[in-house]
Amino acid sequence: MLSRKDYIRMSLELNLFFGRIMKEHLIFMEAAFMMKNSDNILEADTLKEEIEKLLMEVVSISNGPLSSEVLDSGELITPITLKSEKISEFDTGICIDTNITKLENLLVSDQNFCFTPKLEQEVYSLNERAITLVSAVIDFKEKIINNILNCSIFINLYYLLIDHILREAKLYLKMLMNLQSPCKDKTRDTILEQEIFWNTIMGEHALFIRGLLDPTEVELFNTSNEYANIFNELVEEATENDSSIPEITEESLEATIGIRDFKREGTEGIINCQIKSIAYPLLGDHILREANHYIRLLNSFMKGNSC
Ligand SMILES: [Fe+2]
Ligand SMILES: [Fe+2]
Repeated sequence: MLSRKDYIRMSLELNLFFGRIMKEHLIFMEAAFMMKNSDNILEADTLKEEIEKLLMEVVSISNGPLSSEVLDSGELITPITLKSEKISEFDTGICIDTNITKLENLLVSDQNFCFTPKLEQEVYSLNERAITLVSAVIDFKEKIINNILNCSIFINLYYLLIDHILREAKLYLKMLMNLQSPCKDKTRDTILEQEIFWNTIMGEHALFIRGLLDPTEVELFNTSNEYANIFNELVEEATENDSSIPEITEESLEATIGIRDFKREGTEGIINCQIKSIAYPLLGDHILREANHYIRLLNSFMKGNSC
């Protein structure tokens, strides 16, 4: 059973990380539909606005209770998130509430923060609303996937990308449900399962980068291909139990730090108009934050913490 302090802290950290990830998935989808599918554009935009409202609420009660590990990890925002949002709003015409980012930038960790029963209640209700919202996001993504598979819709996103963002949404939902029913924490993923999940995600990011680069960007294309192979091997190693878990953790950390730096340089290259691609900077900053999140998890595994 989690203490009140851990329940509040873990809930807020989870919602801040995954809430932003969910709203950006909807931006990616909204930007990729054809004009004839304006009903889907509207549905994505409405869901995005609802998540932004929830995220703002989370931010408003997050000054103090968060751990410095999460605040310093670069998984919530990075130094280039705000710039990425502004350029992506300019590129796509989709409204992005940058006030959330500006306020998140001011959050600090307070050792003496008071975790009151009232705050616990507030967080409980917030998690319940997050569950309802993420479930709606999952339904929306599943509907689009089915439409892609039966060729009743054309969208400027890979099938694998929508399947990928669906898996991320399902993980968020599962983690919210675990927080809301602490007695059932037997369903929590093991370290190996988490590493297989996130190494698969990192490998797919490499494939997406490869597929979004202009064909003239040969060097970057080759580097992303190499990262896709590295993560593929790591997933195989973990699935076939070829190495010990500490070995896989160490190798995963090294590969993830490498791809994280590659993503940061790539995003900065897009921001500075030095890389030719069909990606806008928010896509880059998004996958950069996911790498930062995974790096924090891997560091906690190395220290012997399972979450
Ligand atoms: Fe994502
Ligand atoms: Fe991802």
